[in-house]
Amino acid sequence: MVQTKIWKKDELDQAVKAIKRGALVAFPTETVYGLGADAFNEGAVSKVYAAKGRPSDNPLIVHVADVDQVARFAERNDWADKLMTAFWPGPLTMILPVKADTVSTTVTGGLDTVAVRMPDSDLTRELIRLTDSPLVGPSANTSGKPSPTTAQHVYHDLHGKIAGVLDDGSTKIGVESTVIDLSTDQPAILRPGKITPAQIEMVLGVPVDSALKHVDANEAPKAPGMKYRHYAPDKDVYMVNDADWTKAIVWAQGQLEPVGLMLTNDQIIAHQLSGMDFVWSLGADDESAAAKLFAGLRRFDDWPEVNTILVTTLPDIAENAAYNNRLGKAAGDHLVNELFE
Ligand code: TXA
Ligand code: MG
Repeated sequence: MVQTKIWKKDELDQAVKAIKRGALVAFPTETVYGLGADAFNEGAVSKVYAAKGRPSDNPLIVHVADVDQVARFAERNDWADKLMTAFWPGPLTMILPVKADTVSTTVTGGLDTVAVRMPDSDLTRELIRLTDSPLVGPSANTSGKPSPTTAQHVYHDLHGKIAGVLDDGSTKIGVESTVIDLSTDQPAILRPGKITPAQIEMVLGVPVDSALKHVDANEAPKAPGMKYRHYAPDKDVYMVNDADWTKAIVWAQGQLEPVGLMLTNDQIIAHQLSGMDFVWSLGADDESAAAKLFAGLRRFDDWPEVNTILVTTLPDIAENAAYNNRLGKAAGDHLVNELFE
């Protein structure tokens, strides 16, 4: 068992040393914390799967410090170049053909493509630059748990299993990057994120397939990770549409056990829940709701008295697709209305 360290910015050299000796270091990004290992060190990459308890057919995103590092393992194309210029560093992951004899099948899950992204964190890009190697970086949670948005979340899940966490406070965006497949003849969104299909179409000038591919048991999923029940806390989670909160609160108040409620400030005021226990504020607007979703799920997950969590959906517009998608996965698509029947 290793003693997991929490390193501040001025201890970056400790994190660099750990990565160079093949150990695991979690790093901050603008979306969620990632679990870093040298992408060219197969032994280190294998340890990532073991630490997370992640299925080995679910490939990893390779994080780069600059555009030049991409050519060390992936084939760039015109679409990729345009999107890199427009959105990097930022929350967009691109799937590109992998170059033979570069990163191992442990990184790609045996696919002939590889996922790549340049995170919008000066500290993490400096970490990658100083280690002089791209880093794999799945979200730094135990597989099946909500992704971590603070260094403390990482520590909670992975202490004793990784060398350390580079702590740069709470992540800004709070949900994982948009994943776009650029390896076929039409760009296709595999996972919704902060960057919307319309923003990508504007840059590429071609239509983007944004119908997330339905994953069934007989078909290999496009993004292998999307087939697993992700982001799932141990408690029962239900989605609540704005119009159903009055009924949902009456239901919650009628239960013998406390029910966790996650809603926006406006909803908290409208339903006179200010200052109440078992209420988690998602903040003032849709952006803050995305930033605070996973932290709220984790808060109630660790609250022994709470077994049921009700979480607001956000209006069904492209900007909220990532939030509603992750909430849907946490809730197994269950709506609170099922409880009223
Ligand atoms: O925001 C993010 O993307 C965060 C931060 C740390 O960068 N990372 C992250 O990684 O969310 P992870 O491993 O939790 O999710 C990566 C997703 C998975 O759904 C995986 O199946 C998919 O990307 N993926 C990775 N490589 C792929 C490939 N070659 N083809 C298709 N999907 C791929
Ligand atoms: Mg993940």
